[in-house]
Amino acid sequence: MGGNYMYQHIPVLLNEVMTHLDPKPNHLLIDGTVGQGGHAKAFLQRALPDGRLLGIDRDPSNLAIAHEHLASFGDNVILVQDTYANAKAHAYAHGFTSVHAILLDIGFSSLHVDDPSRGFSFSLEGPLDMRYDRSGGLTAGEMVNTWSEDELAKMFRVYGEERNARFIAEKIVEQRGNEPFVTTKQLAAFIEALIPRRGKTHPATKVFQALRISVNDELGELERALPELIELLAPGGRIAIISFHSLEDRIVKQFFKEHPVLTVVTKRPVTGSREELRANPRARSAKLRVAQHN
Ligand SMILES: C[S@@+](CC[C@H](N)C(=O)[O-])C[C@H]1O[C@@H](n2cnc3c(N)ncnc32)[C@H](O)[C@@H]1O
Repeated sequence: MGGNYMYQHIPVLLNEVMTHLDPKPNHLLIDGTVGQGGHAKAFLQRALPDGRLLGIDRDPSNLAIAHEHLASFGDNVILVQDTYANAKAHAYAHGFTSVHAILLDIGFSSLHVDDPSRGFSFSLEGPLDMRYDRSGGLTAGEMVNTWSEDELAKMFRVYGEERNARFIAEKIVEQRGNEPFVTTKQLAAFIEALIPRRGKTHPATKVFQALRISVNDELGELERALPELIELLAPGGRIAIISFHSLEDRIVKQFFKEHPVLTVVTKRPVTGSREELRANPRARSAKLRVAQHN
């Protein structure tokens, strides 16, 4: 791998995605979470010479890496910084209105977790941020320090499926009156002192997940995007979605089932091979669902 970028991301369920999308040498793909371009590259290698890819990502840092990683594909690639919930406008602007494939690989990437300044990791000291796009919106810290006890409790319960949601929210509100929450480790240590550790999982895991989902409105983006995305599929075109927790997977499963223009291709979600799960811990919670436009 050449170039001066740090290409670290391992594309999840790559073989499974390629099998289901089956790119051909004139296909159009919208990759709504192009990230560092791992899946995109594999798609383009099979879609040349006439295939094209519209890659969207909310995060400028990941997109910059994708630019370098996919540079050799020249005009066959268009990259845009935005949320995939706005995919339709970009698709119309660039002639991707009747596409063979759409891919979403939702959530965060290794770049987010490994960079302390992004605030995604409770084991690395950093600001409580967690925004994929740092140009606007509330940070995790702003939510923790300003939301009411009820709002925090609901967020931890619904997005984190945290059993102690109310208790944690109550204690956070109490504590922030003395000292606001500023850093990741400060919040993680505070939760660890409240909730005894069980097994290997850090007691702050679910609260951090809830904050990430809430800060980026991850479920709302998915719900808003799906109806518009399927309008962009050509007859026979496929949409493939990789999700990493049950709330997202449920939204995708329901949506596929409720839309008569779609035929579900994966009756059960596809998970990684034993080899992949061994090599890439992040793949352990990945679930792929695919549907085809009639
Ligand atoms: C798991 S990574 C994708 C990796 C990519 N498939 C690859 O192979 O390199 C998920 C990406 O989705 C982006 N993302 C999260 N929510 C998004 C949204 N609503 N719209 C666009 N991109 C989003 C994140 O910034 C991150 O780069």
